[in-house]
Amino acid sequence: MKILLLGKNGQVGWELQRSLSVLGEVIALDRHSTPCGDLSQPERLAQTVRELRPDVIVNAAAHTAVDKAESEVDLARTLNATAPAALAQAAAQTGAWLVHYSTDYVFDGGGNTPRQEGDATGPLGVYGQTKLEGELAIAASGCKHLIFRTSWVYAARGGNFAKTMLRLAQERERLTVIEDQHGAPTGADLIADVTAHAIRSAQHKPELAGLYHLVAGGETSWHGYASHVIARARQLRPDLDWKVREISPVDTSAFPTPAQRPLNSRLNTSKLQQSFALNLPDWQQGVNRLLTEIL
Ligand SMILES: NC(=O)c1ccc[n+]([C@@H]2O[C@H](COP(=O)([O-])OP(=O)(O)OC[C@H]3O[C@@H](n4cnc5c(N)ncnc54)[C@H](OP(=O)(O)O)[C@@H]3O)[C@@H](O)[C@H]2O)c1
Repeated sequence: MKILLLGKNGQVGWELQRSLSVLGEVIALDRHSTPCGDLSQPERLAQTVRELRPDVIVNAAAHTAVDKAESEVDLARTLNATAPAALAQAAAQTGAWLVHYSTDYVFDGGGNTPRQEGDATGPLGVYGQTKLEGELAIAASGCKHLIFRTSWVYAARGGNFAKTMLRLAQERERLTVIEDQHGAPTGADLIADVTAHAIRSAQHKPELAGLYHLVAGGETSWHGYASHVIARARQLRPDLDWKVREISPVDTSAFPTPAQRPLNSRLNTSKLQQSFALNLPDWQQGVNRLLTEIL
């Protein structure tokens, strides 16, 4: 199997380099690569697909800077909608599968139950809107596709929320963390492993093509996430100088940002688990693993 991976150095892209390697030949590109792996050049990207003729395209690249997207509307739309549309058309022409990632930000964040794939969308900002446009363009193209909506992604590589909390807990006595946004912290490694499994399954069962929610099990708030990280870190490394005495829950309004965040980021993953016979471990499992690795 020949796999074209785009966005190879992102959180998910990096883990995909590992997980996809057992499926076959992986041609991993970033925006500076030759042939072109730059999502800001959709036509050249489509040309890359026609030249390489992969069996599967996995697009882990995107405009993921949620606040910046509010002032970079054209660029966000090119990367999140026009480029996936071009990839999808090239995939339809060449018979390739297209695997793509989307987000809970396609929803309006209302309610307090986990959203299902067919629920009404209603993005609150440019990032969510352009990601939704990308989803719709792929579905309309007629190419064989898997779209995974995920949320609250972290990875061991690069910066992440857990690392920031660990640093602050050693610098400050009091932290304030948002407690009215709810979701499930999801490891890039879990997303990459599920992706590889799903690609393998879909090769034999093309009827599995479609849209799926992919997040770790359980749910929490950013405050619950931070509290768990710090409590676990104290257990793992009692020798470190933990200054923090209080982790105060605050509402989203305490941290104004250019882009509005959904309060309800819960995603129902039943369709994915049943379709692919998968178990999604609780979010604490991946976070504990991360902490053991980085501390
Ligand atoms: N992070 C989250 O919490 C989250 C939540 C829900 C859904 N998702 C979705 O999950 C997918 C993977 O996200 P992630 O967390 O792995 O994001 P990430 O770490 O920000 O990685 C995004 C990648 O896209 C690349 N990229 C940006 N502009 C590009 C361009 N013009 N051409 C080619 N590559 C370009 C970036 O490259 P550079 O490193 O060179 O900038 C980066 O490697 C995305 O579709 C995202 O929308 C993420």
